[in-house]
Order: sequence, then structure tokens, then C-alpha cells
Amino acid sequence: MISEYRTSSRTELGAQITPLGNNPFSWPKLEPLTVEAKWLEKQRLVSFSRHNPAAVSFDILRTKVLRSARENNWRSLGITAPTSGSGKSTIAANLAISLTKHEKIKVGLVDLDLRRPRIAEMFAHSGRYSTEEFLHGECLIEDFFVRFGDNLAIGASQHASGSNAAEVLHGQSAGQVLKRVQEELGADIVIYNLPALLVGDDCIGLLPRMEATMLVVGAEASTVADIDVCERELETRTNLLGVVLNKCRYKADQNNNFLGT
Ligand SMILES: Nc1ncnc2c1ncn2[C@@H]1O[C@H](COP(=O)(O)OP(=O)(O)OP(=O)(O)O)[C@@H](O)[C@H]1O
Ligand SMILES: [Mg+2]
Repeated sequence: MISEYRTSSRTELGAQITPLGNNPFSWPKLEPLTVEAKWLEKQRLVSFSRHNPAAVSFDILRTKVLRSARENNWRSLGITAPTSGSGKSTIAANLAISLTKHEKIKVGLVDLDLRRPRIAEMFAHSGRYSTEEFLHGECLIEDFFVRFGDNLAIGASQHASGSNAAEVLHGQSAGQVLKRVQEELGADIVIYNLPALLVGDDCIGLLPRMEATMLVVGAEASTVADIDVCERELETRTNLLGVVLNKCRYKADQNNNFLGT
């Protein structure tokens, strides 16, 4: 079943995507998450809808992401923002959901914003292990990740880390664990909710572990100078896939990456 899936999804994403080995991860065995639709709506997880204009924007974004992933053989996408409150976590989650509307694509969503975790709460998930424990190698992938629907695996915790977040994220153990996620989870693409770039050094140390990044800019939260610094930093250290303008009050052309309220 899984090998059939991998064959067709690789065809869809492009032949450049490398196989994941002989031991595909069993997604049906991941603990399933059940979340009330009202709760998801309250969290602004709008991508499920086929009609909401914001969902359409996410679908356009998803198509661009898939095209770049196919062309460049990228399987990890880090989402960051200059500072807090731009909507980066909301966008990471909505993009992941939008990607799963392609039934044959398996998507991972991992919250690496240890100081301000949000993804677990958005999906009403209270896991047994913290992300810090996971990154220290204290639990298995199958004990940490939960499954939302058939093809979204979420690795997140509501437990926030303290002042040692950078050491945890940049440590050797975290590097090995994230490598294993990429190699063993069996996701076609993993979206990482990264810490904000200009708030400390949590994010910078993670950038070499991302094949591509996306910058989320809050229309009223980010300054032009901050955006400039972030763009240069991300272009130098990673493959910057694009900049998304969020919380924009003005209606824009659908071809642009504008996400309004
Ligand atoms: N397009 C939008 N329109 C209106 N509100 C939004 C939009 N996107 C996100 N929000 C809201 O803004 C708040 C911050 O969003 P979110 O938590 O995703 O930001 P963040 O950049 O991850 O922040 P943090 O740095 O705290 O992690 C949330 O209450 C969220 O629901
Ligand atoms: Mg956040």
C-alpha cells in the first residue's frame, strides 16, 4: 500500500525526489488526532475550505511550493518571520493543510519554535513528549508524531522551552533527530515552523538544516528594514523560496502572495 503510494506521489512531485529506503514508516499506525471544526476555524485554519478566499490563496501558495520542491528536489521547508506575530505559525499550518488536499502527498508539520510553540494548540494536541525531549532523542518518531487525516503528520508540543532553546535546537542530537525525520518519516515534504529570525539566534542555527525557507511578513508587524535584513540572511544561508505578505488589508491580485484577514 505504502510503496504504491510512494510511486504515485513521486511521479506527481517529480522523478528527482529520491526514494526513502526499504523501510517506509507506517502512517496508519500514528495516533490519529480528532479536532472539532469550530476549534480549527477559531485558529484561522482556513485551508480546508474549497471556497474561502484565504484558502484559495493557500492553494496558490501550495502550488508554487510544490513546483519549487519538484524542480529542486527539496523536502524540507522552514517558515520564519522577522519578529513575533506576523502569522508564521498560522501560515505554516495552513500551507501544510493545503498540501494535504493532494491526497497522494504526505506532509510533515513540525514546530521548532520552542519558545513560542503554537502548532500543537492549533490542532488541540496535547502530546506526551515535549519537542525538547524529542530533539534530545528521548522518544521515537512514532511516539512524538500524530496523524491528522491520512496524510498530515504533526510533530509538536504545547510545552515551551526556556532559555536553553538555542542549545537544544543547535545541538548534535537535534541535528540527528531532524535528519531522521527527513529520512524515516516518509513525508514528501516537511514544513518546519521556525523561530522568528531577528528575535535571537534560535532560527539562524537551524537554517543549514532546511533545504528551503519562506519568509512571512506581517503587513503591520514588520518594518522594511527588518524584511531587508531577513531576505539577505535567508538568501545567503538557504534557498529562499519566497516572501509571503500576511495580514494585508488590501485586496490583491490572486497571483501575488498576499494573505488578507
Ligand atoms: N491573515 C491574518 N489575519 C488576521 N489574523 C491573523 C492572520 N494570520 C494570523 N493571524 C492571527 O495573528 C496572531 C499571531 O499569529 P501566529 O501565532 O500565527 O503568528 P506567529 O508569527 O507565529 O507569532 P509568534 O511569534 O508568537 O509565534 C494569531 O492570533 C493569529 O490567529
Ligand atoms: Mg508562532
